[in-house]
Amino acid sequence: MSDTHILITGGAGFIGSHLVRHFLNAYPSYTITNLDSLTYAGNLVNLRDVEHLGNYRFVKGDITDAPFIENLFSENRFDGVIHLAAESHVDRSIASPLEFVTTNVIGTVNLLDAARRCWAGDFSGKRFYHISTDEVYGSLGREGIFTEETPYDPHSPYSASKASSDHFVRAWHDTYGLPVVISNCSNNYGPCQFPEKLIPLFINNIRLKKPLPVYGKGENIRDWLWVIDHASAIDVIYHRGNNGETYNIGGHNEWTNIDLIRLLCVIMDRKLGREPGESAKLITYVTDRAGHDLRYAIDSSKLQRELGWAPSIRFEEGLERTVEWYLDNQEWLDQVTSGAYRDYYEKMYSSSGAGS
Ligand code: NAD
Ligand code: TYD
Repeated sequence: MSDTHILITGGAGFIGSHLVRHFLNAYPSYTITNLDSLTYAGNLVNLRDVEHLGNYRFVKGDITDAPFIENLFSENRFDGVIHLAAESHVDRSIASPLEFVTTNVIGTVNLLDAARRCWAGDFSGKRFYHISTDEVYGSLGREGIFTEETPYDPHSPYSASKASSDHFVRAWHDTYGLPVVISNCSNNYGPCQFPEKLIPLFINNIRLKKPLPVYGKGENIRDWLWVIDHASAIDVIYHRGNNGETYNIGGHNEWTNIDLIRLLCVIMDRKLGREPGESAKLITYVTDRAGHDLRYAIDSSKLQRELGWAPSIRFEEGLERTVEWYLDNQEWLDQVTSGAYRDYYEKMYSSSGAGS
């Protein structure tokens, strides 16, 4: 018999699917409801290995649809919410900023308000956990590191929408007493990431011998974290984090884009049996991204010190495993890049709110 019911939003996406699997495996007595509208980035194939479990339920629905969200909360007694659903790609946010405001800001406020009203009067044992990004802190120079006290200074429509949603989460805590917790994580990598983000895009392009579009000079720096380590950090924070607190999550693993890409090329040449240096020939320098943040680096010492979390694997090993996963799952790559899977979902889940 399940004792705890958690709503995970965005569970069909990259991080969400790893989180759903992590919770189902770690807490068989919990019921996990995965709410996802299945945008281009949501893919139920990511959860095929766990979808048969009796304590897992998928609900197709949109967090921007306030009446639907209100109903979902009144029909279910969620003990907690872990909110990941979002538009997540910086380049898309530059092209379509309003979609990011709608999903990331309005969608978050809808969830906050539904939780507040549904739990009204009794917040004991309840938790609203908002998953955010280190990009809210802006950009670092060559020195420095983001701590939980770093002032917000977002530059892209994506990071501005996430910063805004973080402020709303804190406002619902300070104004209504909603028991919230927020984490801000660095760049994730691993299996099931949509091939528009750097690592899976470049793996796919190398596989297909297509150019590797490096923005600017490739000197921007990101701090990369294995996605399964992010899921374990979320578990620790969900269960043991303090209400109203923020926790930074990161791998202490900074790479310039060009160094990362060169390492990826070496791994890909080896795995594909190509001549050393062949993949690197695909590197093509292109016009820089507008407002491109130079450097992100996260200080996760609070999480390590207070809650005892630490990353589990080194980047070189994680990148190797990541490459292996995409090469073993080329059908997944072909499907998500062809759009065929979206046609399938449109047929399967055409009405909003249909569960499986
Ligand atoms: P993703 O784009 O892979 O997945 C997002 C999921 O949200 C998809 O399944 C999509 O269908 C769903 N979704 C989008 N709009 C929705 C809506 N209106 N209603 C319901 N569902 C909707 O993203 P991701 O990389 O897994 O990121 C998940 C969360 O983690 C996001 O909030 C993101 O800001 C945050 N984050 C991501 C990273 C990273 O490196 N990917 C790092 C730090 C924080
Ligand atoms: P991305 O995966 O989009 O994550 P974010 O912008 O959220 O950090 O990009 C990671 C880095 O790689 C970032 O500095 C932009 C760069 N990049 C490229 O150089 N070329 C590309 O085609 C993409 C998608 C990203």
